[in-house]
Amino acid sequence: MNGKISLLLLSLIFLTSTPGVCPLSFQEVHVKAGEMAVLQCPSYRGYSDGDAEVFWTSHTVDEMKLFNMSTSAEQRQMGVLVHGRILVILRVSVNHQGNYSCSFRNSSRRSWISLKVYTAQSRECEQMNQSFKECYTEESYKLYCPEKNVSFNTLNITTSGITWHKEGGSSPKDGYFPSVKKEDSGIYTCTRFYLYDGQIYNMTSTVKLDVQPNKITEKAVIISPENKQVFEVDLGSTVVIDCKAVMMSDFDDLFWLSGSSFFDADTSLPVSYNDTRPFLLRVNSTEEITMTTSLIFRKVSEDDLSKNYTCKLQSDYETNFVTITLKQKDGKSYNACLMYYKSSTDQGLSEDDRKRLESEMKNRFGYSLCLYSPDVVPDR
Ligand SMILES: *[C@@H]1O[C@H](CO)[C@@H](O)[C@H](O)[C@H]1NC(C)=O
Ligand SMILES: *[C@@H]1O[C@H](CO)[C@@H](O)[C@H](O)[C@H]1NC(C)=O
Ligand SMILES: *[C@@H]1O[C@H](CO)[C@@H](O)[C@H](O)[C@H]1NC(C)=O
Ligand SMILES: *[C@@H]1O[C@H](CO)[C@@H](O)[C@H](O)[C@H]1NC(C)=O
Ligand SMILES: *[C@@H]1O[C@H](CO)[C@@H](O)[C@H](O)[C@H]1NC(C)=O
Ligand SMILES: *[C@@H]1O[C@H](CO)[C@@H](O)[C@H](O)[C@H]1NC(C)=O
Ligand SMILES: *[C@@H]1O[C@H](CO)[C@@H](O)[C@H](O)[C@H]1NC(C)=O
Ligand SMILES: *[C@@H]1O[C@H](CO)[C@@H](O)[C@H](O)[C@H]1NC(C)=O
Ligand SMILES: *[C@@H]1O[C@H](CO)[C@@H](O)[C@H](O)[C@H]1NC(C)=O
Ligand SMILES: *[C@@H]1O[C@H](CO)[C@@H](O)[C@H](O)[C@H]1NC(C)=O
Repeated sequence: MNGKISLLLLSLIFLTSTPGVCPLSFQEVHVKAGEMAVLQCPSYRGYSDGDAEVFWTSHTVDEMKLFNMSTSAEQRQMGVLVHGRILVILRVSVNHQGNYSCSFRNSSRRSWISLKVYTAQSRECEQMNQSFKECYTEESYKLYCPEKNVSFNTLNITTSGITWHKEGGSSPKDGYFPSVKKEDSGIYTCTRFYLYDGQIYNMTSTVKLDVQPNKITEKAVIISPENKQVFEVDLGSTVVIDCKAVMMSDFDDLFWLSGSSFFDADTSLPVSYNDTRPFLLRVNSTEEITMTTSLIFRKVSEDDLSKNYTCKLQSDYETNFVTITLKQKDGKSYNACLMYYKSSTDQGLSEDDRKRLESEMKNRFGYSLCLYSPDVVPDR
């Protein structure tokens, strides 16, 4: 019998070390003494979980044992549960260390799993299989405790909670950081607890967390101008209004529009825009993608004063915008002021006359006119 196993192991070594030959699967599982071990027999094509009966054999230093589901009572006494492709050792001791093989009933294929048991003193195995996670400062972060993809219910095992522990420090109990800090970097150990037949068993995993400075701020927002900001301008002057935004990605869009019309980049037009390319900006420990798009009025006209201009930031996640207006600057508003008297007779300046005069002066001579009668005080 022993000779057969040696032969099998020899051929296994031969097969696994020969490239080109389909290797038999050989896994290594590392478990800390005192904890629960879960061995999973790989599934083969043609042998699904339901129909196949799986035979497990343990080859430990002092004995060889065959496990199948009909030996439940004895197994339970030994703290071993078998259910199909799953073999659970509730509390591992160094005596459990060894090779385990599994095969499906009528299959000649056999899979091997090597169980390595380590004690608290030897940490190297723990480090070997720890998972590594990276996150960024100021983000919220939830540590994930690795879990075996096993239906514990069918083994009559109840899962009963997780605790987190940080090596040489404190850890949020549930592994959740509302806002992760650089000092939160380190090695975390999570323990999953299981309840079986009134007893509590556990399995630990380690997660190495590396907190990096926040690379990209997770926001897409227009920094300036402010919404509803009013820009004071001189009629006929060139006006440039910069819209600055912090974006989530280079693919976000930042543009000006008025009503539903967009502007052109052609600066010979009365109103146009000019973009900068998005660029990375380092702000303290944070990197931001910023971009500016300018709205350019070649010569501000009266017409421009009556419109709303909207700078819109469009990203995959959110859209925001600010709307601004232009207003004529105080003081320099008019080229000329005419005082007139209101009259109820035909000789006076009627409302129509006043309008005609105003537009005539403006259109023919480029004058901006203020007209007021003594009983009307001009407001600008
Ligand atoms: C390493 O951990 C993963 C889960 O994080 C587990 O699936 C795998 O079996 C472990 N490997 C060993 C050798 O223990
Ligand atoms: C896990 O179980 C082992 C053995 O029963 C015990 O020594 C250890 O303290 C347990 N771990 C935790 C975090 O409770
Ligand atoms: C299970 O194993 C026992 C010996 O441990 C054996 O007597 C029994 O026939 C096996 N059951 C099946 C279904 O092979
Ligand atoms: C398990 O198998 C490896 C080779 O794959 C062998 O070196 C080792 O001695 C075996 N261990 C036991 C306990 O049989
Ligand atoms: C194993 O048995 C199943 C049904 O019991 C059958 O469908 C399958 O072909 C068999 N496989 C081999 C390799 O004999
Ligand atoms: C978990 O196991 C089930 C059934 O064995 C399988 O369908 C599923 O894909 C597995 N999930 C992962 C993440 O491995
Ligand atoms: C789970 O419990 C049920 C009822 O107590 C029993 O029939 C079944 O064999 C148990 N399963 C295992 C895997 O022990
Ligand atoms: C557009 O903006 C860039 C950068 O600010 C500037 O160098 C360029 O002259 C501008 N183009 C026009 C037509 O204003
Ligand atoms: C950068 O850091 C300095 C000092 O810590 C702080 O005063 C300043 O507000 C920070 N700037 C930004 C944009 O966060
Ligand atoms: C400009 O916006 C204001 C406030 O939203 C609105 O009342 C007004 O009708 C808008 N004007 C134009 C020309 O769209």
